[in-house]
Amino acid sequence: MRFVDIIEKKKNKKELTDDEIQFWIDGVVDGSIPDYQTSALLMAIVLNSMTDHETAKLADAMKNSGHVMDLSDIEGIKADKHSTGGVGDKTSLALGPIISACGLKLAKMSGRGLGHTGGTLDKLESIEGFNVFLKEEDFKKQVREIGFAIMGQTGELVPADKKLYALRDVTATVDSIPLIASSIMSKKLASGSDTILLDVKYGEGAFMHTIDDAKKLARAMINIGKKLGKDTRAMITDMNQPLGNTIGNALEVREAIETVRGEGPKDFTELVLTAGEIMLMQGKIAKDKNEARKMLNDAINSGKAFDQLKKMVAYQGGNVDQIENPTLLPKAKFITEMKSKNEGYIENIHSMNLGILSMKLGGGRERKEDDINYAVGLEMKVKKGDKVKKGDPLCLVYHDKKLDNEWIESFYHTFTYSKEKTKPIAIVEEILQ
Ligand code: URA
Repeated sequence: MRFVDIIEKKKNKKELTDDEIQFWIDGVVDGSIPDYQTSALLMAIVLNSMTDHETAKLADAMKNSGHVMDLSDIEGIKADKHSTGGVGDKTSLALGPIISACGLKLAKMSGRGLGHTGGTLDKLESIEGFNVFLKEEDFKKQVREIGFAIMGQTGELVPADKKLYALRDVTATVDSIPLIASSIMSKKLASGSDTILLDVKYGEGAFMHTIDDAKKLARAMINIGKKLGKDTRAMITDMNQPLGNTIGNALEVREAIETVRGEGPKDFTELVLTAGEIMLMQGKIAKDKNEARKMLNDAINSGKAFDQLKKMVAYQGGNVDQIENPTLLPKAKFITEMKSKNEGYIENIHSMNLGILSMKLGGGRERKEDDINYAVGLEMKVKKGDKVKKGDPLCLVYHDKKLDNEWIESFYHTFTYSKEKTKPIAIVEEILQ
């Protein structure tokens, strides 16, 4: 096989065979195919796309490029979820304790934040002593014993994706649905769970800006899951405003704790409960939505979900006192209230901008090697559709350094106002399976 013929074929909009895709991924991993040839094929895929069959083969070949976690010695159905990333997204922190209190096992590998989106691992590390670097055996033991664990993805999983993603990043070939779908799904498949729930976000704070693109991506990932025999479902959710009220690591941990205790914000709680319903049905714990919702509410109201959260933090070496009493979580030096300079109904909240502003406070990373300040961030006081007067609070800013004029100016550009009442938006737009 000559790789140049494979590039030529995709350039001419032809379907690649399974063997050709396997040859490519093998060559990426062993280094026998040079980056310039892979880059050419990536660009041909961006321009001419891939069929569902090719996309599933690509995901499968990538999954098998490294270690594949075997969770089969843990009894019961093992669930996993993945979010395409958003601003204020702390879903796994609240969902894990609640669904595991209902008897479903969650074995979750998570990532770190970069740019305007936060990462679950960084949020967890705002809890003193919390260890995200578990050995596979300890991870499995924890899932077996308490029903859930969250750890960082190990280096041995899906090496093909690491190489391809680094190349895509510098060759303008990230934004291709088959490439995104196979990249995400290869990692989910290699994590070894039986079911996968995808939270595909749309809006200006998300990877997919339009609902149509979010649905296309969700469909592409569901197709991969189906072809490879995994129950894969997706929620299409709104990212046109931050999820919940907080952005920033310790602040989001606090909000997840409140949600697990039944005192979380309405939109975030609804997202968590909807995800929980789908996952309990996938895991055959509940027969329908209503039964699932009741179980989830019982887990919250009985305090079982909160106990699960404390157990998980204790298992992973974290300070449980901070979960019992979130005022012990890292605290910023200053809290500044930002007041509205306008009046009217909040029409738009530029969530990506808020993510960037939180990052600039030190709460996120501009570059992979940057350190994080766990204490800083934003606590929103308004949602889209709220009516505000001049001087009403828009947000509390938690910061360690003086806010400069550029930051403050950018903050005020985050909001647009309307004289007319604006329609509130549903957090979960659609469920696909
Ligand atoms: N996230 C991934 O893991 N891969 C992509 O290609 C895009 C987003």
